[in-house]
Amino acid sequence: MALRDALASKTPPAAVDALLCVTLALCWDPVSAPYDEFTLVNQAVEAAKRDPRTAGQAAFVNACLRRFLRERVPLVALTDTLPQAQWNHPLWWIKRLQTEQPQRWQSILRASNTQAPLTLRVNLRKTSLAAFGQALVEAGMQARIVGRETVYLERAVAVTRVPGYAQGWFSVQDAAAQRAAPLLIEGLGLGPQSRVLDACAAPGGKTGHLLEMTPAQVIALEQDPARVPRIHANLQRLDLQAQVLTGDAGDPAAWWDGRFFDAVLLDAPCTASGIVRRHPDVRWLRREADIAQLAHSQKRLLDALWPLLRVGGRLLYCTCSIFAQEGPLQLQAFLARHSDAIALTADGSLWPQTVEAGSIVLDNAAYDHDGFFYGLLEKRAS
Ligand SMILES: C[S@@+](CC[C@H](N)C(=O)[O-])C[C@H]1O[C@@H](n2cnc3c(N)ncnc32)[C@H](O)[C@@H]1O
Repeated sequence: MALRDALASKTPPAAVDALLCVTLALCWDPVSAPYDEFTLVNQAVEAAKRDPRTAGQAAFVNACLRRFLRERVPLVALTDTLPQAQWNHPLWWIKRLQTEQPQRWQSILRASNTQAPLTLRVNLRKTSLAAFGQALVEAGMQARIVGRETVYLERAVAVTRVPGYAQGWFSVQDAAAQRAAPLLIEGLGLGPQSRVLDACAAPGGKTGHLLEMTPAQVIALEQDPARVPRIHANLQRLDLQAQVLTGDAGDPAAWWDGRFFDAVLLDAPCTASGIVRRHPDVRWLRREADIAQLAHSQKRLLDALWPLLRVGGRLLYCTCSIFAQEGPLQLQAFLARHSDAIALTADGSLWPQTVEAGSIVLDNAAYDHDGFFYGLLEKRAS
């Protein structure tokens, strides 16, 4: 990690990755390592020469790796004392969490370094929790059923091997992400004429959940045309229908028909800092400056979508982020700008966590889940 930071400014990303891979391979226990270390270094340098992105750095790769071989013990001892190495996160990330979450930064980082479970959401329009559980037992798959529709598979398998995949009996969705649809829909009393906007919809995980829970019309909006087919594919498998639009949620004039929405879900683009368990490279790809940039775009989307909501309607703002600027601070700033908005009770920040069955659940989403933020707003007459 420290090596990546040190190299990143001077070396093309592909060369940094190649170096890191080989260095990690060299860190293996030499007794159990499958290749002689000099063979690994030679092959890495040969590979660097052959790839046009790294050819110019081949001598540098060679020098770094040979130095590592000569000075392995003190270098590893040195990096082991660094917080980046201890926590497997960039230093800026660790420091930020220490400031924002002085009580829980360690447990957040620890949870982010674990492997995420395979979490399913049962499609109650197609099957029941009991019938799905029985199908899993018959397929020899051990599962934990939690709550109304959440199932954890004890051992991850290819989803297509889980009974009922093609028939749309379930979707793969983290337990924290499964909070979105009920938080927005429950208590609103939506009917077939009601209109719900899912403003940042692809790949359609939450669109499907909304449709499973409500008879309302759901409009799924996505800016990136390349991601739109995934919404269609997911809905088709689940046997659900939504109106799917391609457009920028921040520019309603381009796609809105002028009819107010009863509910809006804004699952905004964010740093994805809450889902490191599922996307381990996110922490190394992000830069600290991304937070402010993304927070700016979240603000733009919130402000653009708020006028589309009817009085009495609700907007659920969520991000899979653990940083305050993308969560509670964003919500607070929105409330200060909009006197016709009130905050309803919602989950707030969910911290990534791994909870063993039987232990105390520290927040209101059950068991293992990613980090998320949920803020629920209701529109009052102004
Ligand atoms: C966090 S993902 C949404 C995940 C989705 N809600 C789900 O549960 O499957 C954010 C999505 O918003 C899209 N997006 C980003 N900016 C947007 C914008 N201005 N308008 C509409 N969609 C946008 C991204 O392309 C991405 O697909």
